[in-house]
Amino acid sequence: MSQSLVTMSYIVATILFILSLSGLSNQETARRGNYYGMLGMAIAIGATALSASVTSYVMLIIALTIGGVIGAKAATKVEMTQMPELVAIMHSLVGLAAVLVGYTNFMDTGSLSGVEKSIHEVEIYIGILIGAVTFSGSVIAFGKLSERISGKPLLLPHRHLLNLGLLTLTILLGSWFLSSAETDGGTFPLLLMTIVALAFGIHMVMAIGGADMPVVVSMLNSYSGWAAAATGFMLSNDLLIVTGALVGSSGAILSYIMCRAMNRHFLSVIAGGFGTVSGGEAAEVIGDIQSIEAHETAKLLMEAKTIMIIPGYGMAVAQAQHTVYEMTKFLRSKGKKVGFGIHPVAGRMPGHMNVLLAEAKVPYDIVFEMDEINNDWADVEVSIVIGANDIVNPSALTDPNSPIAGMPVLECWKSDTTIVLKRSMASGYAGVGNPLFVEENTRMLFGDANVMLQGVLKALQA
Ligand code: TAP
Repeated sequence: MSQSLVTMSYIVATILFILSLSGLSNQETARRGNYYGMLGMAIAIGATALSASVTSYVMLIIALTIGGVIGAKAATKVEMTQMPELVAIMHSLVGLAAVLVGYTNFMDTGSLSGVEKSIHEVEIYIGILIGAVTFSGSVIAFGKLSERISGKPLLLPHRHLLNLGLLTLTILLGSWFLSSAETDGGTFPLLLMTIVALAFGIHMVMAIGGADMPVVVSMLNSYSGWAAAATGFMLSNDLLIVTGALVGSSGAILSYIMCRAMNRHFLSVIAGGFGTVSGGEAAEVIGDIQSIEAHETAKLLMEAKTIMIIPGYGMAVAQAQHTVYEMTKFLRSKGKKVGFGIHPVAGRMPGHMNVLLAEAKVPYDIVFEMDEINNDWADVEVSIVIGANDIVNPSALTDPNSPIAGMPVLECWKSDTTIVLKRSMASGYAGVGNPLFVEENTRMLFGDANVMLQGVLKALQA
């Protein structure tokens, strides 16, 4: 394939990636966005494979087959709730690729000399640095999300100083590397820096508390984009630079949006070592619980005119979305106004609830973002919390010692009655008690979300 055709294909792929990102920003266009992304990737792989730089098609086909089979198997096997783990481990591969490409480039700088060689060495150094941090950070994030490593933050003494020390060390090693690389040396400082970067990635993510893990995943997403862009510089591949920059910047924007949703500071997230803003133990929840049965829930719903459903992680676990929609359809057919209130970090990944509701074919126009409805709870007669906990915890607003203090939450307790559907009094992801459960206007419907909602639906239809 001629170089100009390769460049043309890269431009088309870049445009498709941009269209894909813009499509993914909205539920109605998300499917189309996915197709654009797939087409863009197919063109990118095809053009790269047919470009003159590929010397061994056998190796390429073997690599594509192995990668493709592993990817397809992982994607079909993974549960929706395990998606963040899968994403984290994928990011680690991008980081690892950047490190490996960096070392390959370092061993073979080709015919470069003078300033070009120095620039190339800076690219190699930065590429390996970002790649190693992304790799080890993502592996730890995977361990934490899959509960192979404790979700509790590891707080080493003077950890910020330690981070600063590691950063200074990488700068010093960088100058050592560049001066020795001039005389064809530099292996030792490069290896040392790789170890330091790996340690930094581990330390940064180990220090993060469970409640902040979503931000970490999207931040590592951003890092993996920059690692890919660095790889693009090393390989002089424009498409990889552009794609990496798209992933890097969109990941950073998503991190920023999530930080806002969880009341975290973006800059402290970027600097790492966060997730421990709590000043002490969260207050204990004291009060009486009032439980309710499925048929009583049905009665309350039949009496209400406006109903707001708040889905959370438990709806995903119970796979209750289809029953939720059956119930919604029934209530709407009886003239009730039913809506869904979605918290930006409900579930275990961005857009988790939207994906489930779309799968159950819930119409988009009755699904609302938190900001759209949080001032209107007084107009809601019954709110039903389905397997959600942290995202409806009033102590986030009232208890400065809570680990989720300051996180905006869906203020459903302001509706006339709140029904909370969960199996027990267990806490949610952040591990904090929830005073909503003992509010005077709260009724607890205990049991698996799907089973209980089927009971409610049966009682409604009776
Ligand atoms: P959580 O606070 O984790 O609460 C989920 C609740 O669902 C639990 O209290 C659990 O109580 C209940 N549950 C579990 N299985 C159930 C079942 N089969 N039937 C009924 N209930 C069930 O979830 P949330 O309110 O959606 O909040 C999300 C949390 O996850 C936040 O802290 C957020 O920061 C964090 N997080 C979010 C993301 C993203 S990006 N969305 C990623 C990682 C972490 P029982 O055990 O008593 O049933």
